[in-house]
Amino acid sequence: MNLNFFLTPFSPIINLFIVTFFLLAKKASCTDPYFVACNPKNCSDGQSISFPFHIQGMQPDFCGYPGFTISCNDKGKPVFNLSNNEYIIHEIYYQNQSLRVSNAAVFGKSPSCTPQIQNISLDDGRFHRSSNSKDLFLLYNCNSTLLSNNSELLNYKVDCHGENETVRTLAMLEDDPLLGSTLDKCRTRVLAPVDVYRGENVGTEGMLLLERGFVLNWTASDCSICEESGGKCGFDTATYHFQCFCPDRPHAKRCYSGESFYY
Ligand SMILES: *[C@@H]1O[C@H](CO)[C@@H](O)[C@H](O)[C@H]1NC(C)=O
Ligand SMILES: *[C@@H]1O[C@H](CO)[C@@H](O)[C@H](O)[C@H]1NC(C)=O
Ligand SMILES: *[C@@H]1O[C@H](CO)[C@@H](O)[C@H](O)[C@H]1NC(C)=O
Ligand SMILES: *[C@@H]1O[C@H](CO)[C@@H](O)[C@H](O)[C@H]1NC(C)=O
Ligand SMILES: *[C@@H]1O[C@H](CO)[C@@H](O)[C@H](O)[C@H]1NC(C)=O
Ligand SMILES: *[C@@H]1O[C@H](CO)[C@@H](O)[C@H](O)[C@H]1NC(C)=O
Ligand SMILES: *[C@@H]1O[C@H](CO)[C@@H](O)[C@H](O)[C@H]1NC(C)=O
Ligand SMILES: *[C@@H]1O[C@H](CO)[C@@H](O)[C@H](O)[C@H]1NC(C)=O
Repeated sequence: MNLNFFLTPFSPIINLFIVTFFLLAKKASCTDPYFVACNPKNCSDGQSISFPFHIQGMQPDFCGYPGFTISCNDKGKPVFNLSNNEYIIHEIYYQNQSLRVSNAAVFGKSPSCTPQIQNISLDDGRFHRSSNSKDLFLLYNCNSTLLSNNSELLNYKVDCHGENETVRTLAMLEDDPLLGSTLDKCRTRVLAPVDVYRGENVGTEGMLLLERGFVLNWTASDCSICEESGGKCGFDTATYHFQCFCPDRPHAKRCYSGESFYY
């Protein structure tokens, strides 16, 4: 064999180059833009965000399910709004469609201060609390004169020392035996979800429970079939239908095998 053979138009090496070139070019030019746009993204904490969530400004709306918009807070954590309260997303468990969140207002305060937060409402059905969930009663404007009769109640105090001696804030779990007799000593109550696990004795650690937060599961289109076929899940808000974005084009449910690579 002489060297010139390899450089003729029909040589195997030249052909290999040409074929490879076209395959790469086809892959580059034909990967569907929806598929590319819905790559997982993250706030600076590195937690991967994908369907049903999408990060406002980083992933187009069609990459998420309606009502699952996330933004990044100034500490680089993903956050979202529930009932006008901002919640920090600590962890998303895509495998069982749930996430652990806690009220953002609880952080960045001195550990013994509870801010005034609001009742949560999950009425729209997007999210459900887990079976470990309990209500933590945040009792604001408690009359300290009335409380002083029971010194045990001071263990539940979560207000800031010295801020106001005549009113107190207490935090008590829904099943605390002292709750019933304390409610009428306080003017305002807010019920905050917290998770308490079996065998855990949390007593008066209301603030720690608030910081740890609680698990919610979500209701949205199931992404697993699409994802397992190599696609990225999304949602067409015009037709209000789930979409599976594949390298070739959007599909209704899943990518066809063989189509998830070059075609
Ligand atoms: C987070 O996003 C950055 C920028 O897009 C990327 O370089 C990095 O790999 C991502 N980190 C994780 C853990 O996905
Ligand atoms: C959450 O609510 C705050 C004010 O309550 C608002 O400024 C912010 O834009 C909301 N964020 C999202 C993602 O809707
Ligand atoms: C989903 O799995 C995670 C991790 O295993 C767990 O912590 C969480 O409680 C589970 N969610 C539900 C709703 O059971
Ligand atoms: C979420 O949890 C509720 C009750 O905790 C349960 O009835 C529901 O089936 C769960 N939904 C999903 C999608 O797991
Ligand atoms: C607290 O209760 C006492 C006794 O009932 C009452 O005299 C006092 O005015 C109350 N203080 C406040 C701030 O409501
Ligand atoms: C404290 O308890 C005593 C007896 O239990 C009762 O007589 C008194 O009125 C109580 N004081 C207040 C401020 O509730
Ligand atoms: C404490 O707060 C209550 C309710 O906010 C207010 O009525 C009262 O005047 C305050 N007392 C002091 C000493 O600041
Ligand atoms: C929060 O919800 C509880 C129970 O639904 C209610 O009793 C309470 O008044 C509500 N608190 C506020 C501040 O709306």
